[in-house]
Amino acid sequence: MLHKNSMMSGRIISNREIAKDHFLMSLKVSSAESSFQEASPGQFVMLRVKGRKFPFLGRPLSIYSIYPDDGGFIVELLYRVVGEGTYVISRLKPDEEMYIMGPLGRGFDISPDHSCVILIAGGIGIAPLSFLCEHYRRCAAGRPQKIICYAGVQRSNLLVGLERMEEICSGVRISTDDGSRGYHGLVTELFKNDLSSYGHRDSIIYACGPSAMLKGLAGILKDQSVSCQVSVEERMACGVGACLGCAVRVKSGYKRVCRDGPVFDIHEIVWD
Ligand SMILES: Cc1cc2nc3c(=O)[nH]c(=O)nc-3n(C[C@H](O)[C@H](O)[C@H](O)COP(=O)(O)OP(=O)(O)OC[C@H]3O[C@@H](n4cnc5c(N)ncnc54)[C@H](O)[C@@H]3O)c2cc1C
Ligand code: FES
Repeated sequence: MLHKNSMMSGRIISNREIAKDHFLMSLKVSSAESSFQEASPGQFVMLRVKGRKFPFLGRPLSIYSIYPDDGGFIVELLYRVVGEGTYVISRLKPDEEMYIMGPLGRGFDISPDHSCVILIAGGIGIAPLSFLCEHYRRCAAGRPQKIICYAGVQRSNLLVGLERMEEICSGVRISTDDGSRGYHGLVTELFKNDLSSYGHRDSIIYACGPSAMLKGLAGILKDQSVSCQVSVEERMACGVGACLGCAVRVKSGYKRVCRDGPVFDIHEIVWD
């Protein structure tokens, strides 16, 4: 088996637009080459296009789903086109080859001690939380009594990845910035309105989304005793802890998002 820091080959099975600028890619990797059977929710891959000079550096994408397939694995990635790298990736067709490195980083710390799991997703931040949900479905024994998902987007036609959440969660609460579906406002406000209804000792929050959302959440939870882990995003070059390009400020100094994260305790990060 190759080390997880090695680039493997992945063949595109499908790469389709499921909402404006939002794509779902399925990649086939052979099991002989992969360490994906060990992947845990919150981990990510670095993706590079084979045979092209651009993008030269890999792009980090969270694992959305993984399942065995015909002696190998299908790795699913849910991504939004924001710049040239993700645009190039979105143009790729079935049977084209990618370089894929992973699973990388430290994922969510999944504790069996909480009976209520609260997922808070901002936009494409739903990707790693959906994989976490899938994990709970597969491990029926350690499944919490209640899983509540909060999903916020700018407008309703950008809601992606909800089907799995609706199948697995006890409740899915939606917010849109423009009021086109669900609560009219920020997903953090929607969550804040419900916060007092959760038992702080029994509950754990897992969140992923834009920095501004995570910073807002940190403010809401400042004086609360509820546990909260967040998956943070930084620009990355190597993805394996070698270049220090992804440093994030924490209370004890700096940490590398790619190696020490991307998942951190929300109170560990300096949100300024
Ligand atoms: C651990 C991790 C997991 C991620 N998972 C996903 C995912 O599942 N789906 C998804 O759509 N995106 C995810 N991202 C973000 C994704 O990596 C970036 O959107 C992508 O690298 C942008 O590349 P680009 O060449 O298209 O954009 P660029 O041309 O490089 O940049 C375009 C814009 O996006 C911003 N940007 C670039 N890279 C990042 C980044 N890493 N984090 C935040 N903003 C960035 C830039 O500041 C700029 O405003 C993840 C990032 C990290 C670090
Ligand atoms: S991207 Fe190089 S150290 Fe994190």
